[in-house]
Amino acid sequence: MSISTIAVIGGGTMGNGIAHVCAQKGCTVYLIETSQTLLDRAIGTIDKNLARQVSKGGLSEQEKADTLGRIKGSLTIDDVKSADIVVEAIVENEAVKKELFAKIDAIAKPEAILASNTSTISITTIAAATKRPGKFIGMHFMNPVPMMQLVEVIRGLQTDDATHSAVVEFSKALGKTPITVNDFPGFVANRILMPMINEAVYCLMEGVGEAEAIDGVMKLGMNHPMGPLALADLIGLDVCLAIMEVLHRDLGDSKYRPCPLLKKYVAAGYLGRKSGRGFYDYAK
Ligand code: NAI
Repeated sequence: MSISTIAVIGGGTMGNGIAHVCAQKGCTVYLIETSQTLLDRAIGTIDKNLARQVSKGGLSEQEKADTLGRIKGSLTIDDVKSADIVVEAIVENEAVKKELFAKIDAIAKPEAILASNTSTISITTIAAATKRPGKFIGMHFMNPVPMMQLVEVIRGLQTDDATHSAVVEFSKALGKTPITVNDFPGFVANRILMPMINEAVYCLMEGVGEAEAIDGVMKLGMNHPMGPLALADLIGLDVCLAIMEVLHRDLGDSKYRPCPLLKKYVAAGYLGRKSGRGFYDYAK
């Protein structure tokens, strides 16, 4: 199946990056948000990120204009009707995603593929909210999407071979490297990454080190490009907490319990870069 029209649901941290990459590679993209303000912010972010690519010589002004021209902002999920694939990137909440996909399933073309960018929620479970579980798959992009090479492709229990092959080919057409894994909590990326981040928060809470010291040890000692606390701020602390809660609940092992300090920060509205404050202060 050839994929040329995409609907991206949610224009936050991940959704605007997914829309950016798809449009840059020549696809028509419907970017669907819940309010004009959020839509304007999403398209403004794409504009800014494309401008950075132009200033670094990676893109011409014409290519930037063409890319933006292929992105159609929308406030209604009715616009999934012409999509070959729908990629969902809304809040990390199982009930909300299932409700959204039940609606999308009723509107999208029968042959359209439905994909979730979920960090950890079961693909099999979300697929069961639709009447096309064979055409449902996980397409887990990494943050920031325009920069990161990997797409973790997650096969649900019922994902069919044609859907899997189409998504692998589509990921390659976006210039990414797909790696296929099976449907278990956190898949591979967050099964390994998130407990490390959670442990870094425990180190901060217990006073093992200041944030800069914890991140410095991991950067200089382990050759990580970013420390775990700075990475948590980039991902969003609410997203990190949601992932730990799924790992804890679905794997049933106390080693995955979310750190109380992570919960406290989220309760206070310290969500990381997107709110201006997380483990570091971005207000300046
Ligand atoms: P975010 O909070 O930055 O953005 C979510 C956006 O979805 C918001 O702008 C919100 O207005 C919009 N939205 C919510 N309900 C909607 C609806 N019904 N229709 C249209 N738009 C709607 O969240 P983020 O970080 O982009 O995460 C999105 C998904 O991607 C989550 O499932 C998350 O687990 C996953 N993810 C996040 C990563 C990260 O580093 N932040 C990395 C990889 C996956």
